[in-house]
Amino acid sequence: MSSLLLNRSSFGKPENRGNLLSLEKANALLNDWVPNERLRLHMKQVAAVMKAWAIEKENADEETARKWELAGLLHDADWEKFPDQHCKVIIEELERRNIDPDVIQCIASHGPRHFGVEPKTRMDHMIYAIDELSGFIHAAALIRPTRYEGLEVKSVLKRLKSPAFAAQVSREEINDAIARAGLSLEELIAFIIQKQQSIN
Ligand SMILES: [Fe+2]
Repeated sequence: MSSLLLNRSSFGKPENRGNLLSLEKANALLNDWVPNERLRLHMKQVAAVMKAWAIEKENADEETARKWELAGLLHDADWEKFPDQHCKVIIEELERRNIDPDVIQCIASHGPRHFGVEPKTRMDHMIYAIDELSGFIHAAALIRPTRYEGLEVKSVLKRLKSPAFAAQVSREEINDAIARAGLSLEELIAFIIQKQQSIN
């Protein structure tokens, strides 16, 4: 991930709260902006985990769960076509479309060390924690003959301790995100395995 400091801390407009992109429109945007199937899958997996976490762990209502899902679905939407301006381009697009500020703020804070935007809400903290770990777990599943079937938390933990595996994934960032969100790494790994394996 390249670094681009966004140099602002406010995103979207409060009066747009509740204005969410339909899943159809969000998927159309993805199909248009993200030709890379694997990257699209990553965003769909993060979206599924975010939505499930909102409902099961945060008691979110339907609209709130849709916000979590939408942020997950679009967080890397500009990564393939505008790597040097990630995530500025998708943020500005969503602002142009008058989308809910919570969703835009969440996308802006998914990589505090890269974009300089600190996570504020629970949703912000969770996208930061889920994003890298989701990709890492998918990589760990892909190298197994049975993929997700039988993939255990302890084997993911073991891979995290081996720096050569998926070396581009920052362990430091994962630990930082887990600590900030006050989560158990084991619990989050188990949750992600369970929720993203059917998304393919
Ligand atoms: Fe991501």
